[in-house]
Amino acid sequence: MWALGDYPAVAIDLIPDLGPALVAATGVRAGDRVLDVAGGTGNAAVPAALAGADVIASDLTPELFPAGREFAARHGATVAFEEGDAEALPYADESFDVVLSCVGVMFAPHHQRAADELVRVCRPGGTIGLISWTPEGFIGQMFATMKPYAPAPPPGAQPPPLWGSEEHVRTLLGHRVTEVSASKASLVVDEFATPAEFRDYFKANYGPTIAVYRALADDPERAAALDAELADLAHRHDLGTGSSQSAVMEWEYLLLTARKRS
Ligand SMILES: C[S@@+](CC[C@H](N)C(=O)[O-])C[C@H]1O[C@@H](n2cnc3c(N)ncnc32)[C@H](O)[C@@H]1O
Repeated sequence: MWALGDYPAVAIDLIPDLGPALVAATGVRAGDRVLDVAGGTGNAAVPAALAGADVIASDLTPELFPAGREFAARHGATVAFEEGDAEALPYADESFDVVLSCVGVMFAPHHQRAADELVRVCRPGGTIGLISWTPEGFIGQMFATMKPYAPAPPPGAQPPPLWGSEEHVRTLLGHRVTEVSASKASLVVDEFATPAEFRDYFKANYGPTIAVYRALADDPERAAALDAELADLAHRHDLGTGSSQSAVMEWEYLLLTARKRS
């Protein structure tokens, strides 16, 4: 799904600030062994490498790696891009000082399995850092809007924005971590002239949105209804404060860090 459209453009055009925010929050230092889980094109991996860390960006979608390698090279960063499922990471226990995921692990369908893997590969005393879209924020609401139009998820799959709930993540990580710190923040997005432009950009570039519209290919009425709902959602979130005649939206996320118990 994430190879559909142009996810590298989404990462670079819209959310490039999230990776550096996560790296800063987790205090990545030179020499740290860092794993960026569901790292895509290296949004968090590249700033971690620029901080001097030894970084692997792991992801289920290797189609993203050429763009990731180009992104890393453009910034003069060295990152190893490696294929891997967040629910079964191909790394030994306690291999990393810092385990990160920037709006990434939230998309693995079985949350407890993925959380167990984050904890397993982190060394005792190491740091886990996550940025996840909140259920009530714009992207969480976008997924809620698309849900009735989407094919039924596989059995056991959980909704991605649940990772944006602090309680949910605390439960997933459990007593294996300490010093949990969580705060909500918002990414300001003003790249779109109108709410409809946002919708059309996501229809063209964002894998999950493209997949939903593909499933509606034989049902133009429902596709039109989803068109209207997505534009309406963006319209309701448009703060209307753009001086450059653009739509201005705030996309809320949860930033959570925790230390694995020694
Ligand atoms: C929204 S993108 C985020 C990518 C990157 N972390 C960023 O900040 O741009 C979600 C990523 O999760 C990856 N993904 C989804 N399910 C996964 C899984 N089970 N294991 C590993 N990666 C997964 C996708 O391939 C995609 O790259």
